[in-house]
Amino acid sequence: MENLYGVIGCPIAHSMSPAIHNDAFKNLKIDAHYGAFHVEPENLKAAIEGIKALGIKGFNVTIPHKIDIIPFLDEVHKTAEIIGAVNTVVNDNGKLIGYNTDGNGYVESLKSNLTKSLTANRFLIIGAGGAARAIYYTLASEGCTQIDLCNRTVEKAEKLVNDCPFEHESRFITIRQAEQELEEYDVIINTTASGLHPNVNEQPISLKMAKEGSIISDIIYNPIETALLKEAKERGLIVHNGVGMFVYQAALAFKLWTGEEPDIKRMESIVYEKLG
Ligand code: ATR
Repeated sequence: MENLYGVIGCPIAHSMSPAIHNDAFKNLKIDAHYGAFHVEPENLKAAIEGIKALGIKGFNVTIPHKIDIIPFLDEVHKTAEIIGAVNTVVNDNGKLIGYNTDGNGYVESLKSNLTKSLTANRFLIIGAGGAARAIYYTLASEGCTQIDLCNRTVEKAEKLVNDCPFEHESRFITIRQAEQELEEYDVIINTTASGLHPNVNEQPISLKMAKEGSIISDIIYNPIETALLKEAKERGLIVHNGVGMFVYQAALAFKLWTGEEPDIKRMESIVYEKLG
């Protein structure tokens, strides 16, 4: 019998996860199928029970369930616990174990763009939601100590920085302050929904003060080129789009489920093809 995998979320219809995982199963000759399941928040508990009853081997978790799923799991891996969110679940003979591959997926995808070692960079993260938490704590866990954070709602930025369990010299600042001090940063990362379809004309920060050679990174991949990345390109800065994080988090999940490494380049080309 083929093994079943999937993603639960709401909305989920436009997810590209089934396409990249099913292609990887086929390419690696693994007898398995990955589906997309629309799960309303009030049905989350029932969905988890159903997953157990059906023996689904593993699944991804996306908006809005990444935090709310935690109480329904049997075990949560340390990184996911620190981040406070789960995006990947492994069904280990009936025991559901939660992981978070978002932060590591992001950092893996960034590495090929870096011009110096990861810890030598000074980072600015824009946003203080789940994705910002995953990226911030993963960078801090890898030894990065200079990670400043700004957010529309400053209190949320303060909380995220203060909750960090790793040693760091980071600050929370306002977006205006960040804009004025932008030349201090080597890597500037947008984790907010500003620029995300359908708000494609929005931009979370002006890049006027960004220094030459800095990396402008956006975790949004729809559209691939956000208004922020467009400005970065026009200014001749290094552009890092959200496709990398999406495929690396998927590849790390795939490895947790199957023990095999999928072909990242194949995954990337499927996403680029679908997004035109
Ligand atoms: P995710 O899990 O994708 O990180 P989230 O937890 O809902 O999503 O967090 C969304 C982040 O995007 C928050 O930092 C939010 O800012 P607030 O804390 O002020 O709400 C930010 N955000 C969303 N829409 C935004 C917009 N139009 N402009 C600027 N920031 C925005």
